[in-house]
Amino acid sequence: MTTTTTTTPEYAIAATSLTVRFGAFKATDDVTLGVPVGERRALIGPNGAGKSTLFNLLGGQLRPTEGRVSLLGHDVTRLPAHRRSRLGLARTFQLTNLLAELTVRQNVELTLAARSKAAWVFWRRLGAVDGLAERALDVLARWDLDGSADRPVRELAYGQQRVLEIALAMCGDPEVLLLDEPTAGLSPADARRLTGLVADLPRTVTVVLIEHDMEVAFALADRVSVLQAGRIIADGTPDEVSTDKRVLEAYLGEATSA
Ligand SMILES: Nc1ncnc2c1ncn2[C@@H]1O[C@H](COP(=O)(O)OP(=O)(O)OP(=O)(O)O)[C@@H](O)[C@H]1O
Ligand SMILES: [Mg+2]
Repeated sequence: MTTTTTTTPEYAIAATSLTVRFGAFKATDDVTLGVPVGERRALIGPNGAGKSTLFNLLGGQLRPTEGRVSLLGHDVTRLPAHRRSRLGLARTFQLTNLLAELTVRQNVELTLAARSKAAWVFWRRLGAVDGLAERALDVLARWDLDGSADRPVRELAYGQQRVLEIALAMCGDPEVLLLDEPTAGLSPADARRLTGLVADLPRTVTVVLIEHDMEVAFALADRVSVLQAGRIIADGTPDEVSTDKRVLEAYLGEATSA
């Protein structure tokens, strides 16, 4: 990976004319979207609109049939997920993606070790990695997880698991963070706490989040993009989008057909 950028990229992450077909069905249909550095962007839309699929295309879990993906000025369309992660992209998944039998501390230590510059370090005993324990303590404290450090993840309340996921995603100091429904399944109190943690992330991190809860989406986001049937049907500030006729129709249509 020797690509270099000489100018500040206009967008932290961008999609250009992105399409993915599953047979005859277009789950993503000619999507063009650019998220400027430091922005908080919400991606909303009815179930099955293609939100997670778009994240899979941005993250490298899926390749597009047509179109391009760029990350911090690099064309990453053909790069696998781990190469995008090295360039500064991190993401969480709609379903939690944690090592349930290991403790919170072990999850953090493994993630830090795996992301450390010397990748082979992963294969050494974790105790042999310089400063790992201290760095893990730091992460645990920053995310208010130190009280649960030595509990297996499966014993944590679901809200804590979602916080841990974001903490792990942030372990590699990403510049772009994709969050797929971070508040799904959380109590209102846990959702508020997690929303606060995301809001407090430094503005050096560009955040794109898929969110079903409009209040959360509109509170966190500078701009909102609305997907329906694989296409972007609206894009604007929370105020603009919440009064957009096509958006209201998309949601009312969903409500009346449910
Ligand atoms: N690998 C796949 N093969 C075939 N169809 C797929 C595949 N992945 C997704 N789809 C279809 O693409 C459409 C979009 O799915 P996607 O999961 O992206 O929606 P979503 O907007 O994230 O929905 P939700 O709000 O329910 O999470 C759905 O109709 C889904 O069934
Ligand atoms: Mg989804």
